[in-house]
Amino acid sequence: MKTDCSLTESCRSMSRFQENEKQPSFILSQPLVMASLARVNAFFTGKTGGFRVSAPKPGRPVPVTSRHSKLHVTAQGNGRFIVGGNWKCNGTKASVEALVKGLNAGDIADKVDVVVAPPFLYIDQAMGALHPKFKVAAQNAWVEYTLDDPTHHYDSESGAFTGEVSAEMLEDLQIPWVILGHSERRSLLNEDNKMVGKKVAHARFHGLSVIVCVGETLEERESEKTLEVIFAQLQAVADEIDDREHSSWGSQVVIAYEPIWAIGTGKVATPDQVQDVHAAIREWLKLNVSEEVSKATRIQYGGSVNETNCAELARFSDVDGFLVGGASLDPEKFVQICNSSVVHYKAVGRA
Ligand code: PGA
Repeated sequence: MKTDCSLTESCRSMSRFQENEKQPSFILSQPLVMASLARVNAFFTGKTGGFRVSAPKPGRPVPVTSRHSKLHVTAQGNGRFIVGGNWKCNGTKASVEALVKGLNAGDIADKVDVVVAPPFLYIDQAMGALHPKFKVAAQNAWVEYTLDDPTHHYDSESGAFTGEVSAEMLEDLQIPWVILGHSERRSLLNEDNKMVGKKVAHARFHGLSVIVCVGETLEERESEKTLEVIFAQLQAVADEIDDREHSSWGSQVVIAYEPIWAIGTGKVATPDQVQDVHAAIREWLKLNVSEEVSKATRIQYGGSVNETNCAELARFSDVDGFLVGGASLDPEKFVQICNSSVVHYKAVGRA
């Protein structure tokens, strides 16, 4: 992906300025602003490689790219910081008990939503023992992929789907959240964009809150296809849930940006890489769904987040939280990551 260092740097210094002074009192010279806007415009419109950016809806002003000249100042959402712990396929009865005990003992800051996702078999155990400040998520939910449902509810209910767990069951057991479209499922189990979109719609229809994962491979990033890939993943979700009754976006669909090359590798995306993609996702939501959704949607970063790198990432205005794998299995580290919310609110002036 092409980034503009000078622009990013100027945005960053504006951000620092805002942090220190709260109210920026300098004015950028007009030629500098115009040049910056042209470069940002090129970033969002010239490198699309064929992804779909819909025309503005009637009555809506043509998107003003100046928003991006203030990337770290005004391009933020207004949602609560949210941290997810994806336990993946890890655990035993004994280790879940210990992890829950450690989490319950943790001192979690105010104004942060915390959601942990045990493997299906341990959800009941975890949910029964966790303090209510922790919400629980499933790591997947079934949808009947071949079902063609014009209502976009895909309400296939129970049936002959050996080995699967349905959204109806999650609803029945009052499991409030579900992670969908994780890259491990996309790559190992061949879940394509359309399937993930259907799963999100179906889960929303059953009242579940969703963390939907998007992200590019290393190869896609190196061939400058990052945004193209992510926007196609988002479009598949938007095709299924945009503004439909019982299946809206709102604050209950969280997007987790997880570059695949950073997951479980110890290789964290740089803060600029993260903020640039998050800002692009927010802009995409604004152009393709609505401004309200763009502001309300929480965008998490996931990929080798730990207790030492979280604060640097949390400073950024469009980083509304994290989805954490490995470090979520250590309660002390995970609680520290949750509490990077304090850094975030301070940095964006919402402390
Ligand atoms: P990681 O996993 O933190 O171990 O990189 C993140 C994820 O897969 O959600």
